[in-house]
Amino acid sequence: MHGMSRAIRITGGHPLAGTVVVGGAKNAVLKHMAAAILADGESVIRRVPRIADVDVMAEVLRRLGARVRFEGDVMRVDSATLDSFEAPYDLVSAMRASILVLGPLVARFGKARVAMPGGCNIGSRKIDLHLKGLQQLGAEITSEHGYIQASAPRGLSGAHIFLDFPSVGATENLLMAAVQAHGTTTIENAAREPEIQDLVAFLRAMGAAIEGAGTSTLVIEGVEELRPAEHTVIGDRIEAGTMLVAGALAAKRLAVEGADPTHLELVLNKLAEAGVEVQVDGRRMVVASPGRFRPVDVATLPYPGFPTDMQPQFMAMLSLADGDSVITENVFESRFMFADELRRMGADITIEGHRAIVRGVERLSGAPVMAPDLRGGAALVLAGLAAEGETLVAGTYHIERGYEDLVGKLRSVGAAVEWVDLAEGGSGVDA
Ligand code: UD1
Repeated sequence: MHGMSRAIRITGGHPLAGTVVVGGAKNAVLKHMAAAILADGESVIRRVPRIADVDVMAEVLRRLGARVRFEGDVMRVDSATLDSFEAPYDLVSAMRASILVLGPLVARFGKARVAMPGGCNIGSRKIDLHLKGLQQLGAEITSEHGYIQASAPRGLSGAHIFLDFPSVGATENLLMAAVQAHGTTTIENAAREPEIQDLVAFLRAMGAAIEGAGTSTLVIEGVEELRPAEHTVIGDRIEAGTMLVAGALAAKRLAVEGADPTHLELVLNKLAEAGVEVQVDGRRMVVASPGRFRPVDVATLPYPGFPTDMQPQFMAMLSLADGDSVITENVFESRFMFADELRRMGADITIEGHRAIVRGVERLSGAPVMAPDLRGGAALVLAGLAAEGETLVAGTYHIERGYEDLVGKLRSVGAAVEWVDLAEGGSGVDA
């Protein structure tokens, strides 16, 4: 579907100017699509980004028997025809978020079979918290032949769940399981990400009774039945943050629109510490490059802490700082793989466990590099905007998983970025 033969070529040093508009949040829409399973009928989701992960989730829903239509940025999911309860391995291995159908399937049908996600290239991502919580809600969980089977023939029952860690996915899966359970469920140490608040808004529109969205305690009063609903997805704060860093690296004046700046508070604070002033006016954020950056220490944490999904982009930026920065990754075990690629562009980075010491250099030089994952790939494109000469980023299917037309959006504001086909003579491969 997304061949590995395409690469993104960036010629550094072209100043960015203009406005980019971000799309709906990837990390929200995938959950809304799973939540549509809960209602017997057609739900409508608006402002859906055109990204590969959305296609995978649409395929998961289709294999379950749902009808999915996607026109423009409007998606209709009709789960009245749903007649299968299995998320197969080929899809779960393509996208881990496929496991989010587990909660809604058990809630509505009392059964589900979901392939166990395999290793992931940003650290071993377990699902023990999802499963433990479902067991507390009364589901019987077994696993064999690489599949997890959950069953609750008499329905789920409300429970008091205390998460060991505020996992985003576990909070969402349990939330979607609990909305139709008998009685009250409390999820403590719940994740507080804006995307969860948006999922709660959608579930409430479907008739769910949930209190505490945005806090670490969610209280869910089970209801008999949910009805289809319409919902518009929140703007993608990570896409917005990525564009702000692009602006910090290369813009004369770049406006980023369509995301809520209050979702980016710590990102904006850290940009300011690095010498990047972002003017905020409603839903519009305007950024310009300060030239050289001040070094800043950054530690990722669950929301409202600094997002792990912005860590690679910041590392790219701070590799051009006037001094040393320490970046601490607290959410995922090994999310520094792209640092090796950044080093190939001249960055001076030392990894010590979950800490990266970034010694600022005066310039990066364009090089052929490989995107190791979604955000790391985006960070390499950003580095290319500021580097001297040509950068060729391969492994772009990672980037297409979660960024809607990154190349087109950057081009529209003056970046020298283009797709190249590696299969055809490999022009530019040795750039
Ligand atoms: C979501 C986001 C991802 C983001 C991450 C953290 C989606 C589709 N993806 O991923 O972009 O980087 O939140 O903000 O929304 N963990 C366990 N046991 C579990 C579940 C998680 O140990 O049962 C650990 C993971 O290994 C990881 C940490 O908790 O180290 C965070 O994971 P989690 O918050 O669940 O992230 P995701 O929902 O997978």
